[in-house]
Amino acid sequence: MRTTRTFLSVTRLGAGLAAALLLGACNGERPAAAGTDATTPADAPAADATTASIDPANWPQPEWPFADDAELEQKVDALLASMTVEEKVGQIIQGDIGSIAPEDVRKYRLGSVLAGGGSDPGGKYNARPEEWLALADAFWEASMDTSGGGKAIPVIWGIDAMHGQSNIVGATLFPHNIGLGATRNPDLLREIARITAIETRTTGMEWTFAPTVAVPQDDRWGRAYEGYSENPELVASYAGVFVEGLQGKPGTPEFLDDHHVMSSVKHYLGDGGTGNGKDQGDTVVSEAQLRDIHAAGYVPSIAAGAQAVMASYNSFHGEKMHGHKPLLTDVLKGRMNFGGFVVGDWNGHGQVRGCSNTDCAQTFNAGLDMAMAPDSWKGMYESTLAHVKAGTVPMERLDDAVRRILRVKFRANLFEKPKPSERALGGRFELLGAPEHREVARRAVRESLVLLKNQGGILPLSPKSNVLVAGDGADNLSKQSGGWTLTWQGDGTTRADFPNADSIWDGLEAQVTAAGGTAELAEDGAYTSKPDVAVVVFGEEPYAEFQGDLSNLMFKSGKSGDLELIRKLKADGIPVVAVFLSGRPLWLNREINAADAFVAAWLPGSEGGGVADVLLQGADGKPQHDFKGKLSFSWPRRADQYANNHGQADYDPLFAFGHGLSYADDGDLAALPEDAGIDADATSGNTWFERGVPTTGFTLRLVGADGNAMDVVHPAAKTGDGSLEMSAINHEVQEGARLFAWTGKATVQLLSNEPLDLTRETNGDVPVVTTLRVDAPPTDGKATLSAGCGEGCRGEVEIGEALANLPRGEWTRVAVPLKCLRLHGADTGKLAVPFELTTGAGSRIALTRVTASTDFDHKLDCPTN
Ligand code: BGC
Ligand code: BGC
Repeated sequence: MRTTRTFLSVTRLGAGLAAALLLGACNGERPAAAGTDATTPADAPAADATTASIDPANWPQPEWPFADDAELEQKVDALLASMTVEEKVGQIIQGDIGSIAPEDVRKYRLGSVLAGGGSDPGGKYNARPEEWLALADAFWEASMDTSGGGKAIPVIWGIDAMHGQSNIVGATLFPHNIGLGATRNPDLLREIARITAIETRTTGMEWTFAPTVAVPQDDRWGRAYEGYSENPELVASYAGVFVEGLQGKPGTPEFLDDHHVMSSVKHYLGDGGTGNGKDQGDTVVSEAQLRDIHAAGYVPSIAAGAQAVMASYNSFHGEKMHGHKPLLTDVLKGRMNFGGFVVGDWNGHGQVRGCSNTDCAQTFNAGLDMAMAPDSWKGMYESTLAHVKAGTVPMERLDDAVRRILRVKFRANLFEKPKPSERALGGRFELLGAPEHREVARRAVRESLVLLKNQGGILPLSPKSNVLVAGDGADNLSKQSGGWTLTWQGDGTTRADFPNADSIWDGLEAQVTAAGGTAELAEDGAYTSKPDVAVVVFGEEPYAEFQGDLSNLMFKSGKSGDLELIRKLKADGIPVVAVFLSGRPLWLNREINAADAFVAAWLPGSEGGGVADVLLQGADGKPQHDFKGKLSFSWPRRADQYANNHGQADYDPLFAFGHGLSYADDGDLAALPEDAGIDADATSGNTWFERGVPTTGFTLRLVGADGNAMDVVHPAAKTGDGSLEMSAINHEVQEGARLFAWTGKATVQLLSNEPLDLTRETNGDVPVVTTLRVDAPPTDGKATLSAGCGEGCRGEVEIGEALANLPRGEWTRVAVPLKCLRLHGADTGKLAVPFELTTGAGSRIALTRVTASTDFDHKLDCPTN
C-alpha cells in the first residue's frame, strides 16, 4: 500500500499554530503516545506537535437556557436528603435490558435502563411494539414500587432512536445523518426530530441517544454515516435545532411534554477525529482543532437545553474521554455551562486506564454522572457503592451526579406522570410509520440525493418507458436503511420486518406502472424483455461502529457484481442510471465511468419512493422534483485519500464539499482516471498489527488460561487470571512493540472486523509474517500459530521447536505459509482470526508487526501430518 499523504486542517487555526502544525508534520513520524490505540505513524492524522493540555478559558460559553429555579432545587434537595447512599448509587447506574430485569430495578433502585442496538424484549429483534411498551411499564412500575422501603424515583429508558425510532418494527426510518447533511435543510431536521420523538413515545421511552454531532474527518471510520458532515459549521447548524425538535423549546409548555423526548448529544469529544478513522481510537489534534472542529455541535446543543451528553469511547492524546476530567468537568460543565448530566457509552468506563467494566471510580471522579454498564451494572453498582463508602468517590461528587439526574427527571415532570402506556402517546402505535411521518421522510430522501453525473441529460426518465431495476440494493430494505435498524448491525432482517416501508424498486414500479410504462425487477440484470433504461441500485452492506471500519476507500462490489453488471447492460446497448447506497463517499470511478448517470443516495431508510420522485418525470414530461442534495462529505479522488476535508490547505477532492448537480446543470462528466492509488484488487492492506497496535479494522485480544477473553485498548494489559501479561516496549519508535509474558497457557489473537478473503494470497504462496523477538521460549517447548474462520474452522501449526531455535533477544521475521494453515483446516477465504499465538508458562515473546507478505527471514516447514 502506498504511504498516504498527511492532510492538515489549518484554515480554522491561527497562522502561528498552523505553522507549528506544518512543522510538526514535516518530521513525519510522531512518537506513539501512551494509550494510542492503533495509529500507524505512516498514515497518522495531522502530526500534531502541540500538547494535550486543555485550558477552559479558550472554550466557548453557550448560555444554558434554564434560569435558576429555587422551587426545583428545593424538590431535588428534599429528595436527595431522604435517599440512602445505596439509592443514590442506583441513580447513577444504567443497565441494558438484555442483562437486567424489572426485578433488578426494584431491588437495586437503578436510575435508568437502556436498550442497546442488539437488545430487545424477549431477545427478539423484531419484537412487537406492544412488547416494548409492556417492558417499559414493568421497569417504570419497579422503579415506583415502594413496598420494599425505597423512594419512588421514575426510571428513564434510553434508546438509540438514531434515524427514527429505528429499533421498532414499523417505525418511520429517516435517512441516516450523512444523507440529512446533504439536504442543507435545518427546518427539515427539526421536523424529523419532532416526529422521532413522537414515535419513540408510543413505545414508552422518554430518552434517545441522539443526535450524533461527530464531525468525521476520516471516511474509513465505520461511523462516518452517523455524522451529518465533515464540516463543523454544517454540523452546528443542525445540532441545536435537532435537540429542540426532540425536546421541545425550553421555557414553553411543550418542553419535555408527552410528545417530546430527552436527547443525548454524542459522543463527547473527538469521536470523529481518531487516527486512521479507527473507531474508539485516539484523537491527536490540537486543543484548537478539538474545539473548533469536534466541539462545534455541542455549543448550539447546550444553548438548546440538551439534557444529556454522552461521553465518547475515544481518547484525546492517549487519555480516554470517560476519564478525562478537564474536558468532562472543567470544559463541558464548568466553562460551557452544561447543566444536564453526562451519560457514559457502552462499558466505555471500562477502557479508562486502571478500570474494568465493573469497577471505575475514576470515571465518576472525572465527571461522568451515569455509567452505561449494560451487562456490568451489578458489579459497577457494588464497586461504586464501596468507593463512596471508602471515600474514593467523594460523597459531594455522588450528590452532584444524582442532583443532575434528578433535575432532569423533575424538568420532564416524570414524578407526576403515570406509567408509560398511560401517557399521551403510549400505545398509539398507529403513529409508527404514520402516512404524515413517512411523507416527511420521503421528502428527506428526495432532498438528500446528490447527482454527480447525468450524461446527455439522461435523467429524468420517462415513466412511460420500459425500465429494468437491477442490483442487490434495488429491493433491499436492510441495505437501504443501514446499521442501527432493528438490529445493531442492521443485518439479519427480512422484508416482513418492514411493514411501513417501500424499497427503491417499490417506488419506481408504482410510478412507472401508473404512468403506463413497464417495470421489471432483476437483481442480476437478467431481463426478460430488453428495457429502454436500467436503474442499477447497489452499495455497501449494512454495518455499525467498528465493524464498518475500512482500511481504504475502495468500493468492493456487492453480490450483484456491480461493475460487471453495469458494463454488461451497457454492452447490451442499455443506458444505465447508477444509484449508490453507502454510509460514506467511496472510490468507484470505474462504476461512475461505466454508468450514464450516477446518484449518491446514502442510506435513505424506509422511503424508497423518494428516489422515484426525483428520477422520474411527471405526466407533463418535466421533472417532478429537482435534485437538491449537496455533498456534506468530500468525495475522494483516490481510494487512499482518506481524510481530505473541506477547508484544508491541500484540499483536492474529486467532488468538493457542496457539490451536487441539478437538472438545470450540464451533467456531462469526462472519463475519470481509474487509478485507485492502491492495488484495486488487493483484499486489504494485509497488515494486521503494526508497531505494537492492531491496524484499522482489527482488534487485539488476549485469552487467558481460564478461557476468558479481553480486548486490549491500552499499551499494558493482563488477563484476569494473570496467565498472560502485556506491556509496551520500544522498538524503532517509542512503544513500537508489545512484550507478552506467559505464566500459563494463554493466547494472543488478532481479530478482523470483517472476514478476510486471503484466497489469492494463499494460492500465491504468501505467508503470514510475524516480526518477533523471543526473549524466552516456553518451558514445555510448546507453541502454536493458528488462524480461525468461525465455528469448527481453524488451522493450527506447531511452532514451539522453531521458536526455541531462533536467536534469543533478536528481532526476526518468521513466516508461516497460508497454504500450511489451509492444509491444517483453515478456510483462508474467510479468516475472522488471521493470527493466533498460543504458548505457555515461561514464554516471553515481543511482537511488533503481523502481516501477509513475501518479505521474511525464516520460513517454517509445514508439517504434513
Ligand atoms: C454506541 C452509542 C450507543 C450505545 C447504546 C454504544 O456502543 O457507541 O452510540 O448509543 O452503544 O447502544
Ligand atoms: C450493543 C450496542 C452497542 C455495542 C457496543 C452491542 O451489543 O447492542 O448497542 O453499541 O454492543 O459494542
